[in-house]
Amino acid sequence: MKKVLVATEKPFAPPAVAAIRKVVEEAGYTLSLLEKYTSKADLLAAVADADAVIIRSDIVDREVAEAAVNMKIVVRAGAGYDNIDLVACTEKGVTAMNTPGQNSNAVAELAFGMMLYTARGFFDGGTGTELREKTIGIHAYGNVGRYVAMIAKGFGMKVFAFDPFVKKEIIEADGVTVVESAEALYKTCQYVSLHIPANEKTKKSINYALLSSMPKGATLVNTARKEVIDEEGLLKMFADRADFKYLSDIEPGCKSEIAEKFAGKFYFTPKKMGAQTSEANNNAGIAAARQIIDFFEKGDIRFKVNK
Ligand code: 3PG
Repeated sequence: MKKVLVATEKPFAPPAVAAIRKVVEEAGYTLSLLEKYTSKADLLAAVADADAVIIRSDIVDREVAEAAVNMKIVVRAGAGYDNIDLVACTEKGVTAMNTPGQNSNAVAELAFGMMLYTARGFFDGGTGTELREKTIGIHAYGNVGRYVAMIAKGFGMKVFAFDPFVKKEIIEADGVTVVESAEALYKTCQYVSLHIPANEKTKKSINYALLSSMPKGATLVNTARKEVIDEEGLLKMFADRADFKYLSDIEPGCKSEIAEKFAGKFYFTPKKMGAQTSEANNNAGIAAARQIIDFFEKGDIRFKVNK
């Protein structure tokens, strides 16, 4: 009987775990759970007899891939798979997948939650600003970017996007203005919402040159990854521009410096919250479980992300 391990340092809500269990057990497989683990040793021990593993932001590095001697598939229940060593997985013959789109609306809604909270001065009773008529630039028009565009239009914002991998016509069909470069996006938009993945090309790519070109009222919203930010440039931007705000779903490395010097100019979730809704937990968890069953039963590798 095949064993599916759900290894989540930040667990899914219990109903999502129950739904995953149902999918797995109905297929005749067994489910084991490793939740809220505090040491890598626990993860290494848990993966040892698993045929398939479902993770969230949990790190599957070479050591984990090697400890998982039976593992044939690992599914990141979510979008970004920068937490998986794809090379190690490929070398070990392990298929790595994500579940694109399943938690995108939750992430997009969080972006707006953070924008409203800060635009209204953290609800402190003072006078804030509105989102209506402001410009917003969507940096990468994937699943989350699309939801951000839809919600931004509902708020009456002027919506722009840059994504060299998505056809112009597709973005324009959503009523979004396409710009031809990241430079143009930052130069045009008071709000920029980041949706680029973290990889060798994008790490530290959001730098001072881009940020400092933003118009007055510049607010960077990061529900992507902290690694894409050049934190030296970020600190310089804070120092140079009293109007600048940075909102991020996960604390940057330089959080204490920002907190010390730039009070009122930032908001950071204490723990990554973007996908923390019951809907997103259900969607991503169930999709991951189904993808595992379809992989074993039908050889379905549609969502494979490694070579
Ligand atoms: C994702 O890449 O899907 C999001 O960052 C969500 O991550 P999480 O599952 O760790 O909350």
